[in-house]
Amino acid sequence: MNVQAKHSADASTAEEAIAIQERFDSTAATELAMQNTLLTPRFYTTDFDEMDAIDVTPVRDDWDSLIDRMVSDPNKGHFKKNEDWDHVDWEGMEPELKKEFIDFLVSSCTAEFSGCVLYKEMKRRGSNKDVTQLFQLMARDEARHAGFINDALREAGVAVNLGFLTQKKKYTYFKPKFIYYATYLSEKIGYARYITIFRHLQEHPEHRFHPIFKWFEEWCNDEFAHGEAFALIMKSDPKLTRGRNVLWIKFFLTAVYATMYIRDHQRPRFHAALGVDPDWYAHEVFTKTSTLTRQIFPITLDIENPRWQRGLERLQRANVDMAEGRKQGGIDGRLKSLGAQMRAAACFVDLYTIPAKTHAVPASTRLEPAY
Ligand SMILES: [Fe+2]
Ligand SMILES: [Fe+2]
Repeated sequence: MNVQAKHSADASTAEEAIAIQERFDSTAATELAMQNTLLTPRFYTTDFDEMDAIDVTPVRDDWDSLIDRMVSDPNKGHFKKNEDWDHVDWEGMEPELKKEFIDFLVSSCTAEFSGCVLYKEMKRRGSNKDVTQLFQLMARDEARHAGFINDALREAGVAVNLGFLTQKKKYTYFKPKFIYYATYLSEKIGYARYITIFRHLQEHPEHRFHPIFKWFEEWCNDEFAHGEAFALIMKSDPKLTRGRNVLWIKFFLTAVYATMYIRDHQRPRFHAALGVDPDWYAHEVFTKTSTLTRQIFPITLDIENPRWQRGLERLQRANVDMAEGRKQGGIDGRLKSLGAQMRAAACFVDLYTIPAKTHAVPASTRLEPAY
């Protein structure tokens, strides 16, 4: 018997989860999610035919066992409130923290949903069974994640209208190989971010100011599995991680790490409430992500090089000045913003040109979540 799920956590497909979530929305949160800047999560589209031609034969064994695990669906029903969900005092929350935390939730929800939309579209357009099955499973997970964040937001009186976003948010086109690099990295860095917070709060439960953090362990295991799938896709076509493509890999590593650094530094109250120093957190997440990405990328960034931290700090200051200039407006504001933009570009080039570390990539990509 096919019983209709009442909650996105119990939904078996992305479509079902989204339909459940569509009953709720809030204009302010949706507007925030609609923003398109360099730093906000985007929606992507790609050459779906090229992706449909992926042939996983060279990694068949690992592929099948990964898919089997995803089909067994260990997290079905997990992403919803239960007795572990403590009461959240949104009214009593310090206003700056509340603002930053809502911003964090909306941006996380948009990022989760961005994955869902891309994966769902790939599933819809494809005809290759391996590819469509994988993307359907990943879309299912991301829809549940986004739905769960929306549950948390709803208690604060806001929620993102996921149906509206799908239709109205601008889509950025990326070639399939760029989708692999960017999505693989965002899945692995997502795992590293969630597990680092989860482990930190296990040691310091007094800083757990919201119950959603209790769900981060299973959550990041989903992201880990998604990353594994992209590692296998890249493994199936060795030229994706060789030659000139290594320069692209370095570009994506630098861009993804730098974006995370700047975004997190925009939320000082949020990190203070968690008892986390954003510089420590960034370094921790980069270290874990670098260790993981050695499974498939032939280089890692030299994050111990003094130029790295210095460059990130300068980039972050340039970003603050850019925002101030924009806020100020007028000729002075525009000049300030333009100057800061040029500084930011120079910082990025400086970060990008730090020599990377190379290593021999293992024959099998297979990894288990070990943090
Ligand atoms: Fe997710
Ligand atoms: Fe994911």
